Amino acid sequence: MESRAYPLLLVLLAHFFLILRTTSAQLSTDYYSKTCPNAAEIVRKEMIQILSVAPSLAGPFLRLHFHDCFVRGCDGSVLLDSTKDNEAEKAAPPNLSLRGFGSVERVKAKLEKACPNTVSCADVLALMARDSVWLSKGPTWPVVLGRRDGRMSIANETKQLPPPTADLTQLIQMFAVKGLDLKDLVVLSAGHTIGTAHCAAIKDRLYNFTGQNNLNDVDPFLDPHYIAKLRSKCSPTDTTTLIEMDPGSYKTFDLSYFKQVAKRRSAFHSDWALLTDKFTRDYVLKHANGYEAEFFQDFAESMIKMGNVGVLTGSQGEIRKTCSIIN
Ligand code: HEM
Repeated sequence: MESRAYPLLLVLLAHFFLILRTTSAQLSTDYYSKTCPNAAEIVRKEMIQILSVAPSLAGPFLRLHFHDCFVRGCDGSVLLDSTKDNEAEKAAPPNLSLRGFGSVERVKAKLEKACPNTVSCADVLALMARDSVWLSKGPTWPVVLGRRDGRMSIANETKQLPPPTADLTQLIQMFAVKGLDLKDLVVLSAGHTIGTAHCAAIKDRLYNFTGQNNLNDVDPFLDPHYIAKLRSKCSPTDTTTLIEMDPGSYKTFDLSYFKQVAKRRSAFHSDWALLTDKFTRDYVLKHANGYEAEFFQDFAESMIKMGNVGVLTGSQGEIRKTCSIIN
């Protein structure tokens, strides 16, 4: 190639990278620095108040962000109400146990007052999830911002959420579709170190694992002593009782999820499934015995990755005024 062709090539390459940058990386930690400089502080202040009154909402806020990102990307679609013509994600079975919608609206209202039409509901969820973990004594991380809110929410699309009965192949596949790998799977599953589950979500492991519906039909991979304990709390027909997913430490973000999984005392079959692959098993067993700082760092990294799934940016979508309805 002639030497005078090089400058042109360089200009073309620079242009290409500029296009890549502007189309794929529009989220940034200082996105609201001019339009709503106190956005993160406003969220944090509200979260401190909300969780001081209702600490058990930390789990639901973390789960809301996960369920948002796995369906149509992190676009706040999980927050939309159904309309007469459309059944929204919220109305689908995996989302009937979601909680905390009222608090999301409360935080959003504070932001609307400070900076109207500026901060998206999708970003509110990402910030609330981060603060929930931090206020539960877990790690914190920089949240990149600038997500826009979607205008669609379709109940049927919640099929993309992994069920608690999933085996590892299914989990790997469902995470891979979202650009998340095996490490993200094991690390993010440890979100189950906080929060509760309904008896309905675990009762098949206790009474009806293979569809035979009798007292012997239990998940063979669940510790028998733990089965007895869970049965004392959950009858086969119970739909309302909550169990602590990480008994004794369900309000604290720590390593005890890994200890429970290692002892085959996790709430879901999907948690147990992490023991069926060498990489995920090694991660569980290592962190059942320590290395909290490493887990915290890994969790922060995977949350940042999850928070980038399928985001709307630029002129896509909108900034909703109220999170439950499109403008
Ligand atoms: C790996 C696949 C996953 C499955 C199969 C799964 C399934 C479930 C189920 C069935 C519940 C119980 C809901 C109820 O009965 O009230 C639950 C709760 C929860 N999940 Fe997951 N989950 C998964 C991954 C995640 C991830 C990636 C996170 C966040 C990083 C997460 C965070 C939570 C939290 C915090 C709760 C407690 C919610 C509360 O306290 O109300 N889960 N999950």
